[in-house]
Amino acid sequence: MTREEIIAILEEVKHPAKGEQSLVALGMVKEVEIQGDAVAVTLAFPKRRDPLAEYLIGSARAALNRHLGEGVTAEVKTVVEEAPKPAQKKALDLDLSGLSEVGHIIGIASGKGGVGKSTVAVNLAVALARLGFKVGLADADVYGPSVPTMTGTEGFTPQAFQDGEKEWIVPIEKYGVKWMSVGYFADRGQALIWRGPMACNALKQMILQVEWGELDFLLIDMPPGTGDIHISLVQDIPVSGAVIVTTPQDVALADVEKGVNMFRNKSIAKPIFGLVENMSWFTPEAHPDERYYLFGRDGGAQMAERFGIDLLGQIPLVQGIREGGDAGEPAALGTRPDSLAFLDLARNLAAKV
Ligand SMILES: Nc1ncnc2c1ncn2[C@@H]1O[C@H](COP(=O)(O)OP(=O)(O)OP(=O)(O)O)[C@@H](O)[C@H]1O
Ligand SMILES: [Mg+2]
Repeated sequence: MTREEIIAILEEVKHPAKGEQSLVALGMVKEVEIQGDAVAVTLAFPKRRDPLAEYLIGSARAALNRHLGEGVTAEVKTVVEEAPKPAQKKALDLDLSGLSEVGHIIGIASGKGGVGKSTVAVNLAVALARLGFKVGLADADVYGPSVPTMTGTEGFTPQAFQDGEKEWIVPIEKYGVKWMSVGYFADRGQALIWRGPMACNALKQMILQVEWGELDFLLIDMPPGTGDIHISLVQDIPVSGAVIVTTPQDVALADVEKGVNMFRNKSIAKPIFGLVENMSWFTPEAHPDERYYLFGRDGGAQMAERFGIDLLGQIPLVQGIREGGDAGEPAALGTRPDSLAFLDLARNLAAKV
């Protein structure tokens, strides 16, 4: 019994999902060990939970038993081995050329989720565009992308083209802004579950593989929190600095502190352009002149002072902002007081940067 014989037997085992190619042709046969009357074959699977693994192991074992005859024991073992993805790997090799004409890359961050970071990022992008700047926004929330919904670009599919070895993705343009999001590549409502490194790669693709062209500002809607993804992002992408979004409550202070510390951390050391206080006050639609300070007054100003950063803007809590987000028509397109609040924010940020 030789290794060649065993390989010849395994040639007969076809992978039903790969055009009936054999395990051998697919490079899945990793090892063949022969010791006396015992054969051990190790098959490599590219995924941990390959739905066809059981079937293929059984088929390989059956083929071996059929051919090897009485007295020979055949064992089939498996290993998980990431399939090499050379083309993609190249593109992700931190090729920063897509950013060569981008002026300022600004991370929109928050210490915790649900404070309106995406709402602020999308409206800020629209407001900057209204002021005449060339603007792009990358939705870095690879787990819960909200940019397609908030911009009414759900179901849009970005074009891609090949340039030498690199595949470029063309951003979606609407409201004078170039948008990019993982959401354009996933089915609507589908939960996006990534392992850490994949999430990081998807994220960097959404920034580095995009044909941004000439931009004054590229905003990055960072995922909530201050985890590994953030650190890897700010270390690998030449971010100019950050804007931190918060709500005015006292309880938000600790989260803002986390956000501030992340950017001030020695290994990152990026400037914080300022703080945006969202939901500063509530104004009912029927009473546009009234302001109710539901979460306390001037919490954002106090936080900004405490951390020695500027308060770039205060955005009211109004029904129109939420509705605009749901309808894909950002409030910043309009002329209401809350629309103007986003324009003020955009002016302050541009001046600061
Ligand atoms: N100023 C505001 N007025 C009214 N509704 C708002 C305002 N800011 C945010 N919202 C609403 O609050 C909800 C959460 O906002 P958003 O998705 O922007 O938060 P986020 O911080 O990006 O959340 P996540 O952490 O999940 O990414 C949305 O429904 C949005 O429309
Ligand atoms: Mg968000």
